[in-house]
Amino acid sequence: MKIRNISLGIATVMVGAIGLNLNRAHATELSKRTVEQAVDGKDIYMKSCKECHGVLGAPTKASLRKYEKIQNFTDSSFFTKRKDSELTEAIEKGKGRDMKGFSEKLSKEEIHAVMLYIHTLAKKA
Ligand code: HEC
Repeated sequence: MKIRNISLGIATVMVGAIGLNLNRAHATELSKRTVEQAVDGKDIYMKSCKECHGVLGAPTKASLRKYEKIQNFTDSSFFTKRKDSELTEAIEKGKGRDMKGFSEKLSKEEIHAVMLYIHTLAKKA
């Protein structure tokens, strides 16, 4: 009888421990998601890029006048001409005379997120 009680006790403790572990796994999953949400490509675009590249990815007239080489992200053919790694590099290090690099202002994750975001501006042909 005693032995049975002990093993019941052990079983209860084990179930409890498994429950704790599940909770912990759930917590890490949640905090991972929060980090992902914190790196919001659109948010970064609106803060750091829209001034030149336009809210929707098409440069404003003023911006076109000022920066003749500025690209139009609503044109999906632009993305067939560039690899993601090239876009990332342009955002990181800058390009030409007017596109400054963002490696000091944005983290790698933020640069990646905003690089993915500009793809979503392209109109489906
Ligand atoms: C001060 C204006 C300005 C800002 C702010 C700016 N850009 Fe640019 N960007 C330019 C200009 C001008 C070019 C064209 C450069 C060239 O080819 O000479 C360009 C080019 C690019 C290109 C194309 C590079 C290629 O491969 O041809 C990408 C991608 C880009 N910008 C992304 C971004 C992102 C993302 C941000 C915000 C994090 C941003 N830019 C902020 C002016 C700007």
